[in-house]
Amino acid sequence: MADKTSGEWEPKVIGFLCNWCSYAGADLCGVSRYQYPTNIRAVRVMCSTRISPHLVLDIFKAGADGVLLGGCHIGDCHYITGNYYTEKRVRLMKRLLEESGLEADRLRLEWVSASEGEKFSKIVTEFTEHVRKLGPSKVKKDESLMARVAAADDASETFRLRALSGKEFGLVTKGNVYNNKLDPAELDKIIDSATEEEFERSLILELSRTKPRSVKELGGIMELPTDKVLRHIVVLRQKNMITMEHPEGFTPTYKTIEIGGEQ
Ligand code: FES
Repeated sequence: MADKTSGEWEPKVIGFLCNWCSYAGADLCGVSRYQYPTNIRAVRVMCSTRISPHLVLDIFKAGADGVLLGGCHIGDCHYITGNYYTEKRVRLMKRLLEESGLEADRLRLEWVSASEGEKFSKIVTEFTEHVRKLGPSKVKKDESLMARVAAADDASETFRLRALSGKEFGLVTKGNVYNNKLDPAELDKIIDSATEEEFERSLILELSRTKPRSVKELGGIMELPTDKVLRHIVVLRQKNMITMEHPEGFTPTYKTIEIGGEQ
């Protein structure tokens, strides 16, 4: 057990464990008296696929230092294919974390069966130590990192990324409406490119929420070429998500349109 008496920082780790395998594995770990750090707060869910990218990114926004997802081994999911979807979603979550600048290895996916109590103990111990080495999450102290994680969160909720991550497994295993199975590597590339675009657009919206900003200013903050920022703004204006404010001199600025709010 971790020594919490010294007053030193201790990693806050949230564990989502599926009811049928990982949570049962954690139970067995307890009754078998295997030791593991008390840093983890275990949350029981019916299947690992219940955990959305939005929930995980929200937890990182709230200041968690690490998130562990535990599910049944591939082929053993109680709902047949749930953990295949989890695997694909975790790839998307890690990709979004990379875009945000928060270490992607603060998130981990592990398969633990109901009979693997000792394995559960080893995973939690090793992951907690890994998070300890990474240090405390800076999300709540660093405004710019918080904006980027919030943008990653918003991007995960876009129709495009939800549709792609929800259909990825089916497109690879069963095929599209024309019965053509997509090449997994090709689909990964499509999802990577969509993730980057949606993240950048969400970040533009995040940065322009409280203050109208010019293309040049956004490009400077985001370290993106201005032509790329402008292309995103054209798309956001077409979707009625951003509006042009009265130009200051000859430089137009853009402000996010709040849903249900005034422009
Ligand atoms: S029930 Fe365990 S991963 Fe689906």
